[in-house]
Amino acid sequence: MRAPAAAVLTGLGAWLPPRRVPNSELCARLDTSDQWIRERIGIAERRFAEPDVSTGDMAAAAGARAMDSAGVDTVDAVLLATSSPDHPCPATAPWVADRLGLTGVAAFDVAAGCSGFLYATTAAAGLIASGTAGRVLVVGAETMTSIVDPGDRATAPIFGEGAGAVVLEAGPPHAEGALGPVVWGSDGSLADAIVVPAGGARGRYGREQAPRGDFHVHMRGNEVFRHAVRRMTAAARDAVVSAGWEMPDVDRLIAHQANQRITTAVADALGVPAGNCPSNIREVGNTAAASLPLLLAHAADRGDLKPGHKVLLVAFGSGLAWAATTLVWPAGLAARL
Ligand code: COA
Repeated sequence: MRAPAAAVLTGLGAWLPPRRVPNSELCARLDTSDQWIRERIGIAERRFAEPDVSTGDMAAAAGARAMDSAGVDTVDAVLLATSSPDHPCPATAPWVADRLGLTGVAAFDVAAGCSGFLYATTAAAGLIASGTAGRVLVVGAETMTSIVDPGDRATAPIFGEGAGAVVLEAGPPHAEGALGPVVWGSDGSLADAIVVPAGGARGRYGREQAPRGDFHVHMRGNEVFRHAVRRMTAAARDAVVSAGWEMPDVDRLIAHQANQRITTAVADALGVPAGNCPSNIREVGNTAAASLPLLLAHAADRGDLKPGHKVLLVAFGSGLAWAATTLVWPAGLAARL
């Protein structure tokens, strides 16, 4: 019997809103400092979308670039990972598909916080392995200012906005660019560690009756930090074993850009040298579900990901949810930024 097809990375794109927001702009309204944000989070600036630019707009822009990078003008499904959809209902992905000229294809959102992109690529890989789809566009996009309280110093300095996207196509399991086995999981007992309390089915009240701030993200940052390091380290180790690799084989660690201290702690625990851990948190902040595809695009564009590199991807976020997988970087893949 033939092995099921693998999901092979054939296109990569990113879109960042042009407006740069340096720490100094946040310091003007928050009790914080440029030094604190740089030292404790590792961010110098982030991008914010203009008020009339939504998650769907950014997803469509990044998706178009990923399809251009792959040299394709159609896909069988569009998956959008986001925690900041354009509306609570309907999902944003069908609108993105329509905007891309793909009206009629299957399209849905994936809500798995900062792990959403890897959850979505895993779902795409399953669609490809089952023969349901031959080519899938997977996008991660976030407009975090729609859910972050600009007056909360515990969350406002962390998050940035943008979108990244990949095209995955059916191919042989050992092809370069084929996604490896996934290690993933969740812990809903800590659902309240990163939560937007209002606006859903629990606590059904109007905006005017909701406790102040309940339409914004509440986060127990310190606790999230500890779980992020523990879960990302364990998932990354297991993904390497599942791929049949050993940790010293890993040429590049592509970790969710949550906080520079988190990614450094994970890399240290795994024994991956700092020089093998591409990073863009300094320039774009924590872009949640957009973080991994944005980092892939930036690292590829900078020549930090070379054909044949063994790449380990890992993410962690609200849910709590985490995921890790592997791939060998393919030749001939040009990111469109
Ligand atoms: N500016 C200045 N001081 C701040 C601050 C800010 N923006 N935010 C918190 N502080 C203060 C706290 O009040 C505290 O002061 P105290 O010691 O007098 O009580 C001190 O800094 C340390 O606070 P703590 O919360 O322990 O800081 P931290 O080092 O854990 O950093 C986060 C806070 C939020 C940056 C960090 O915990 C983090 O990045 N967590 C993970 C967040 C994340 O990635 N979430 C997304 C999902 S992956």
